[in-house]
Amino acid sequence: MECSWKTILLLVCASLGIQYTAFRSLSASVTSHCPRTETGKHCHSQRRGNNRWRGLVGDWSAWEAPDRKHILIFATTRSGSSFLGQLFNQHPAIFYLFEPLYHVQQVFVNSSTRMRNVVDRRALLGAHRDLLSNLYDCNLNFLENYMKPAPRDHATTVFFRRGASNALCEPPLCHLNQNSKDPFEHLCAKQCKVLNLTLASQVCQTRSHMAIKTVRIPEIKDLRLLSEDPRLNLKIIHLVRDPRGILASRMGTFTDNFRAWKIWNATGRKPRSVDLSQIATTCNDLFNSVGTGLSKPPWLRGKYMLVRYEELAREPFKKITEIYHFIGLDVDNQVKKWILQNTRGTSGTARNYKYTTTRNSTATAESWRLSLSFQITQTVQHLCNGTLTQLGYQPVHSLRELRNVSNSLVESKTFTPFL
Ligand SMILES: *[C@@H]1O[C@H](CO)[C@@H](O)[C@H](O)[C@H]1NC(C)=O
Ligand SMILES: *[C@@H]1O[C@H](CO)[C@@H](O)[C@H](O)[C@H]1NC(C)=O
Ligand SMILES: *[C@@H]1O[C@H](CO)[C@@H](O)[C@H](O)[C@H]1NC(C)=O
Ligand SMILES: *[C@@H]1O[C@H](CO)[C@@H](O)[C@H](O)[C@H]1NC(C)=O
Ligand SMILES: *[C@@H]1O[C@H](CO)[C@@H](O)[C@H](O)[C@H]1NC(C)=O
Ligand SMILES: *[C@@H]1O[C@H](CO)[C@@H](O)[C@H](O)[C@H]1NC(C)=O
Repeated sequence: MECSWKTILLLVCASLGIQYTAFRSLSASVTSHCPRTETGKHCHSQRRGNNRWRGLVGDWSAWEAPDRKHILIFATTRSGSSFLGQLFNQHPAIFYLFEPLYHVQQVFVNSSTRMRNVVDRRALLGAHRDLLSNLYDCNLNFLENYMKPAPRDHATTVFFRRGASNALCEPPLCHLNQNSKDPFEHLCAKQCKVLNLTLASQVCQTRSHMAIKTVRIPEIKDLRLLSEDPRLNLKIIHLVRDPRGILASRMGTFTDNFRAWKIWNATGRKPRSVDLSQIATTCNDLFNSVGTGLSKPPWLRGKYMLVRYEELAREPFKKITEIYHFIGLDVDNQVKKWILQNTRGTSGTARNYKYTTTRNSTATAESWRLSLSFQITQTVQHLCNGTLTQLGYQPVHSLRELRNVSNSLVESKTFTPFL
């Protein structure tokens, strides 16, 4: 026992040594592939490799923020995040990932009951954070830890919603034959089977920026450690939506889980099995996150922007210009083209495809008002009154008011980014 401090010292040294070697080989491997960096653009990975070094020796003074942007779309299920995600997915300089934290959650949720009790919220958040951090570093192999079945030779067939990331469906990762009316994501899912995660990481390196969408982190404050990491140039786009719209959209999408709600909506009688806790939690998380964001803590300075989905849907060009401006990038023509193609038409080519983003976005943002009963609307207004007030969504007091969509319930309210 007396020499235990020696043991500890030895362990510390050993662990430093391992980290040293790991970082060293990481920077070495990373510097070796920045093949297709455009002229005038930095080979960011190399810079980050070097920055890590300075970080280790504790000298941040000479450090300057990298040009590389790490964008996080922070949202709630059915709040329009697929739509916003597409506005980053279409940008040719951005490597976009749709909900990669799904894989972590699957492992945690599917583990045995005994494990589930041991694995607490903090552990799950830690896993989420580590994964995000590695993904922003273009280390997609880190996902292998969570994939079932485990990839062989770094190749997987179970990458969640692969087709939602353009980069993962394009050469050299896949050669799509696009002579079909199917939505792009379906085509990719059908035609691109095996994904080489090592190659995908290399493709990621060739893009100047990275964007990740997630609905799996409960509150903004859970992002604090990531936000404080000076190596990450994190830009959080906090997407919110009227909780009444969120609920209506969930009822339409997750029909099995919302059967009792649908009965309530259709018959006007509330079944005992209606579970109010989910929407209450959603509102509570929204309230806390928005509260955190708007209270402007130092760790969010320059990194936080609140966006209401209804505004994005109503004026996509205006809003996306503001968002890109906040991030410090230009809206690419591909993004503009996609908006033109996807916010006008009816969803003719994408029937019954619940996650589609192809629809008349202006018409969808407040269309929940035609599909929720007044009783349910009142219940949500009661559960979420603080959230509605905070975000500028007006409550209704009669069925007539609810259904009269010529009066918008979205108050004009300006949420300026925290600069
Ligand atoms: C988790 O369980 C669900 C349902 O049982 C199954 O569909 C899914 O494939 C499982 N995921 C993993 C990663 O094992
Ligand atoms: C995956 O890609 C890497 C990098 O390009 C390559 O070295 C490796 O052979 C590929 N693996 C498979 C199974 O094709
Ligand atoms: C989209 O919906 C809005 C609001 O209902 C309507 O004014 C507009 O004409 C629609 N556009 C198309 C192309 O359907
Ligand atoms: C609620 O009921 C109305 C008619 O009673 C129906 O039009 C609407 O689609 C229903 N909403 C949902 C989300 O199921
Ligand atoms: C919401 O309603 C509850 C109960 O009716 C009330 O105590 C609370 O002050 C309200 N909050 C806001 C922000 O209006
Ligand atoms: C809807 O609201 C508008 C504007 O307040 C009003 O002029 C109209 O009469 C209302 N329609 C109905 C059916 O109540």
